[in-house]
Amino acid sequence: DPRLATVREIVARHALQRGGLLPALHDVQDALGCVPAEVVGEIALGFNLSRAEVHGVISYYHHFRSEPAGRHVLEVCRAEACQSMGADALWQHACEGLGLPEAGGTRPDGGMTLQPVYCLGLCAQSPAAMLDGRPHARLSPERLDRVMGACMA
Ligand code: FES
Repeated sequence: DPRLATVREIVARHALQRGGLLPALHDVQDALGCVPAEVVGEIALGFNLSRAEVHGVISYYHHFRSEPAGRHVLEVCRAEACQSMGADALWQHACEGLGLPEAGGTRPDGGMTLQPVYCLGLCAQSPAAMLDGRPHARLSPERLDRVMGACMA
């Protein structure tokens, strides 16, 4: 697996650093587009952790994914402030519009990935979402449609 060499090199760069696991995971995701299950063992080895521990960190931070994302990534905030402003309905709307299950994920055509995030620092302008790294605030389902339509066009 050629990905292992990349992972080994990244792990070597961070293994001696305190709290190096998170930056290493970020680098792996940047390099490979995700943190595939097949490389978790290699990361665990480098940090002297169990696979379960590394897996726990990966699943705790919703930013990390085990499969490559679609061409576009929509992150809808599901934390408290946004929730009180209708983020659940927004999430539901996004799932339905994209033909994705409750949990989000990537469309079969690879066009878009929908994933939750927990606070984008835009609580005062909730509900908020991020599309391809660009923040969008005070979203209604209609505004979300417009934003998504513009990027898919
Ligand atoms: Fe959604 Fe803070 S809770 S941006």
